[in-house]
Amino acid sequence: GSTLGTAAAERGRYFGAAVAGHKLGDGTYTGILNREFTSVTAENEMKWDATEPSQGNFTFANGDRIVNHALSRGMSVRGHALLWHSQQPGWSQNMSGGALRSAMMNHVTRVASYYRGKIHSWDVVNEAFADGSSGARRDSNLQRTGNDWIEAAFRAARAADPGAKLCYNDYNTDGVNAKSTGIYTMVRDFKARGVPIDCVGFQAHLTNSVPSDFQANLQRFADLGVDVQITELDIAGSNQASVYASVTRSCLAVARCTGITVWGIRDSDSWRTGQNPLLFDNSGAKKPAYTAVLDAL
Ligand code: XIL
Repeated sequence: GSTLGTAAAERGRYFGAAVAGHKLGDGTYTGILNREFTSVTAENEMKWDATEPSQGNFTFANGDRIVNHALSRGMSVRGHALLWHSQQPGWSQNMSGGALRSAMMNHVTRVASYYRGKIHSWDVVNEAFADGSSGARRDSNLQRTGNDWIEAAFRAARAADPGAKLCYNDYNTDGVNAKSTGIYTMVRDFKARGVPIDCVGFQAHLTNSVPSDFQANLQRFADLGVDVQITELDIAGSNQASVYASVTRSCLAVARCTGITVWGIRDSDSWRTGQNPLLFDNSGAKKPAYTAVLDAL
């Protein structure tokens, strides 16, 4: 194939990008999106603060703009994210206990129900594990509602949209380490007890290298019976092109690695300001990293 999307499709995968809705009127941006990508993730527009700015009042216009752009052009959508400790609306940040748990589950149910039938994969829970050597859950207001909040969220999401694949998504989990092993143990437990989980997302915000056991780590999750996806790929540093190629080859080598999403289109679109971690330069030209990915697909 001559684009990321067509080349990935020949390998049975999607190739996606995070999209900012307010940029869809930029012809250069949207031209690249429509030409190269077969999946989209809303960069911010489907998060809790964006979709439920006051309790019980849901706003989907900005998410809809991205979802409709994608679906009308045959692209699939990754839903991002139903529950996350960050980018919560102000009203939920100081809630706790049963009131917060009810608000969380209502959020999951309402958003997943609204988008029912339109979402390929939902990040049901994002970044719920701690960094470092503990392998434990991250402390947050969500976690303090009880350790079962993650499985409760997955059950609510399944009930609301039975056709969507339900993912757990996190960062610093690309290699085998205490954090990824904590998640691995949770997924194994969920599968054993019939908690509905279908996929694990690896954000892969990288600088100059990818862990040498990246492929083995993807494979150990796949061997639990879930799909794996590279969900927010961006790579800073001088080894950028070769690391992009390596990440792409690792996904292709794992049968259940179903797709790759880059976290933005041009370097100037990246949340990693000044690090130029993406596949297109500020003017929209293909970088060496682009060619490295295309050649690896
Ligand atoms: C980032 C967005 O790119 C920024 O625009 C926003 O200000 C903060 O969030 N992990 C995630 C993404 O799961 O939602 C984050 O996106 C990047 C880190």
